[in-house]
Amino acid sequence: MSKKMIIIGATSGIGEELARQAIQNGYLVGGTGRRVHRLKELKNELGDAFYYSKMDVSQFDDAKITLHSLIDEMGGMDIIVLNAGISNYPSSSITAMEQKVIDVNVSGFVQLFGNAFQYFRKQGHGQIVGVSSIAGLFGSSRAAPYSASKAFISTYMQAYRQRCNKIKEDITVTDIVAGFIKSEMTEGKKGMFWVSETEKAVKQILTSIEKKKPVAYVTRRWRLIAWLIHLIPDRLIDRLW
Ligand SMILES: NC(=O)c1ccc[n+]([C@@H]2O[C@H](COP(=O)([O-])OP(=O)(O)OC[C@H]3O[C@@H](n4cnc5c(N)ncnc54)[C@H](OP(=O)(O)O)[C@@H]3O)[C@@H](O)[C@H]2O)c1
Repeated sequence: MSKKMIIIGATSGIGEELARQAIQNGYLVGGTGRRVHRLKELKNELGDAFYYSKMDVSQFDDAKITLHSLIDEMGGMDIIVLNAGISNYPSSSITAMEQKVIDVNVSGFVQLFGNAFQYFRKQGHGQIVGVSSIAGLFGSSRAAPYSASKAFISTYMQAYRQRCNKIKEDITVTDIVAGFIKSEMTEGKKGMFWVSETEKAVKQILTSIEKKKPVAYVTRRWRLIAWLIHLIPDRLIDRLW
């Protein structure tokens, strides 16, 4: 029987390409996002193996209800990929913009993670995948709430991996630590390097999910950068970014 994967944030970039590649690999895929027209286009492209629902992860209660109706429609869920994220938000004040990033990347993530965790506990197995970032390994003056939000989700997932080990649950928690990948989020941004084609990065993401890796750097060469960042003294980090 086909495995069932739900991708939160499947309307563009990494999530959209993951839906495509997962279906090519034989999965049934459920996709969500706020832009329904994008979901409809994907449905036209991917056909019966693709299910979709409109969801705004910052509307916590509605998002949880939507998740469960999508699970019902698909007849179950084996893997959830918590991919929705923003790095910026047009807003009248910095505080409001930063709050929105936290609402989506942290609170939305935690609410859906908790719900999926309870679902998988009842089911007896499952996999939760989160998409963090190399940006979460250090504070960045250009993206304070974004880098902090990604640090939060990496630490959160590590804690849940420990929890699953302690309570002996068959639930895998996979942290995809992403470097630069072509998507709407990175379009037109300056100062990037080693920018991966979306298809290549997503191929590595899908392999890491299937291998049930606890932590995967995507693309793989970013593991080296992560290692170097840990060696740089804080005082130098403060000057660099
Ligand atoms: N691209 C990179 O270099 C890179 C690097 C590190 C980490 N990441 C992470 O990878 C993930 C995917 O980003 P991407 O690069 O593929 O960018 P993207 O093309 O902008 O995709 C972002 C996805 O998140 C969804 N999303 C945003 N806000 C949402 C909300 N309030 N409710 C529901 N869905 C929402 C978007 O859907 P709607 O707009 O339709 O709602 C879209 O599907 C993000 O978590 C990002 O932080 C990306």
